[in-house]
Amino acid sequence: MRPTYQVTELLGDGIGPELSRSVHTLCGSLPIQLDFLPVDLTLENRRARGMKIYDEAVEAITTTRVALKHPTVTAEESPNAVLRRRLDLSVIHRPVYTIPGVPSNFRRELDLDIVRIATGGTYDDPGRLIGEDGAVSLRIVERRPVLEAARYAFSLSRRTGNKRVTSASKYTIQKATDGLFERVVKEVAGQFPEVPHNIELFDALLGKVIMAPEKFQIVLVLNEYGDFLSDMACGLAGSLGIGASANLAFDAAAVVRVALFDAAHGTAPDIAGKNLANPTAIFLALSLLLYQIGETDLGRIVRTSTLDLLRQGTRTRDLGGEESTDSFTAAVAAEVTRRAAPETPAAS
Ligand code: NAI
Repeated sequence: MRPTYQVTELLGDGIGPELSRSVHTLCGSLPIQLDFLPVDLTLENRRARGMKIYDEAVEAITTTRVALKHPTVTAEESPNAVLRRRLDLSVIHRPVYTIPGVPSNFRRELDLDIVRIATGGTYDDPGRLIGEDGAVSLRIVERRPVLEAARYAFSLSRRTGNKRVTSASKYTIQKATDGLFERVVKEVAGQFPEVPHNIELFDALLGKVIMAPEKFQIVLVLNEYGDFLSDMACGLAGSLGIGASANLAFDAAAVVRVALFDAAHGTAPDIAGKNLANPTAIFLALSLLLYQIGETDLGRIVRTSTLDLLRQGTRTRDLGGEESTDSFTAAVAAEVTRRAAPETPAAS
């Protein structure tokens, strides 16, 4: 009997249906069974069903606890923003890495897991004018999301071979807010004595990531810092179009309650329906999902099979290759089948 997991699949617009087909093909090559529970978030269905479709999505995701989301058109509302709010997705995990052989703006290798607190910081308060020539805004740091993000970052390290966790902030200047952040991170670090942890000032971190990227593995940051760092790292890695993230919500014990995985790119209307879409990002999102459900080996196999094929030149047109969505998918699926097959004992 193959182990079985339920996954909510949020169907999307543009290249969404092609990506969904690719994911199903790839999952067919895994030695586990993923039962997909579809929720139709296409613009047409959102317009027909109104906000009720989100009730259905939230109920499904709360039941299955993991979801894979395809890109959706932002029209009357942003489905991502609605889901983030409705599910209380307070932390974003965004891996960013260079893929040798795939064009990048960086001569060094980068392999970062950015864990970002997705609420608070300066982003929850638009601020207000004081008279004509002054303005203030609140900067909010709360223990709960910091604890959740820190537990996630240190557990991620434990799952992936005790990678170093670096927390970065401006604790020397923002003594109350960033001081609280670093204090909570230290408390959590104390519960993971085997995981190396160090603290950097955020401005220094930006320079060091560029000059010595090999020193950083998991980086844990507050909201706006994570926003800046993700874009800088993606710019360096040149992988804006092939990135994926995990959006996470937690229970009272700071354990992941639900996780929603998606590709960074949008619906690519210019190539929709043409068998040209690159499924790399959604495959990397699936790989993160496999890690989350505890299928760490398969998560690694999906990620490395996809990246190794890209490295060897098996690429879709957006990356300068000749492959179609279907042929690239078939190549990745074949590689995953090969790598996931149980070792056959050598004949005696
Ligand atoms: P986009 O990412 O859809 O497209 C930008 C360019 O990248 C296009 O030339 C497109 O063909 C290409 N591209 C994107 N993904 C690709 C893939 N997998 N394979 C090959 N080429 C790919 O960004 P754009 O055009 O700004 O947005 C289009 C729609 O997507 C908008 O309605 C926007 O609101 C929505 N969107 C949705 C997101 C989500 O649901 N997570 C995220 C970003 C945008």
